[in-house]
Amino acid sequence: MSTEKEEGYVKHKLLVLSGKGGVGKTTVSVNLAAALALQGYRVGLMDVDIHGPNVAKMLGLEEKVHIASEDGKIIPHTLFQSLKVISLGSFVPKGKPIIWRGPLKNKTIEQFVDDVEWGDLDVLVVDTPPGTGDEHLGIMQALGSIDGAILVTTPQTVSKDDAKRAGEFVKVMESRILGIVENMSYFVCPTCKTVHYLFGKDGGQILADELETVVLTKIPQDPMMIVSGDAGKPVPFFFRETAMEKHFYELSEKILALLGEGSREG
Ligand SMILES: Nc1ncnc2c1ncn2[C@@H]1O[C@H](COP(=O)(O)OP(=O)(O)OP(=O)(O)O)[C@@H](O)[C@H]1O
Ligand SMILES: [Mg+2]
Repeated sequence: MSTEKEEGYVKHKLLVLSGKGGVGKTTVSVNLAAALALQGYRVGLMDVDIHGPNVAKMLGLEEKVHIASEDGKIIPHTLFQSLKVISLGSFVPKGKPIIWRGPLKNKTIEQFVDDVEWGDLDVLVVDTPPGTGDEHLGIMQALGSIDGAILVTTPQTVSKDDAKRAGEFVKVMESRILGIVENMSYFVCPTCKTVHYLFGKDGGQILADELETVVLTKIPQDPMMIVSGDAGKPVPFFFRETAMEKHFYELSEKILALLGEGSREG
């Protein structure tokens, strides 16, 4: 993987992080990557959540084993022509714990960067675990630099405060925060259409102000996301013409604009 114009060239490298667990990093990573791929971009999706590699699950790749090329490189899974995916969830048996310390995790992350046949990519999306630990340092070191970080938070203060830590980590790494995704922002009652703020309100904007960045999108709570994640069917591919699909397109377009890319769709 390289930022030079040679084989394995990656134009834009994005890190998705949150501080707090369970707020939607993998959901956002998977659906953002899918939306970008459907717009014609060559996308890599790397899962560096070593202990909870849910990218494989959310893309239906748990049972699909990676194979090696003749020169010993790992061949990533390719979905829908232009989305290449690597996740430890495709290497280890379902339900088995991955009991590894930092050095082994770092070695794996290095291999994900250097020993995978990514080919040339327009955008690499890296899904990370909660916190700012081994995996985050490991991927920053292995990539050398990133083009931007996307912070995911719910509106709740306990999530926002952890996301702030993640944002400060990005700053310590001298990297750019592209913006905030406020996930599980609100819930629209399917019967009476009343909007409920189950996790509070405005946490994303408060975080954006604290970190001097912007809210990229607010994604509602929607049972469709549970179905989509559990079935391994990302929204842009399988739930077309839905309100949720629009959210992920909107997010991808904002990110492309921040990266100085135009849309390729159509
Ligand atoms: N907008 C949403 N509406 C409803 N459910 C959602 C939404 N976003 C995510 N979820 C669900 O919330 C749970 C947590 O999401 P996800 O696994 O993406 O979070 P995460 O931040 O990656 O978690 P972890 O820290 O464990 O890696 C999942 O069950 C997912 O399907
Ligand atoms: Mg996750």
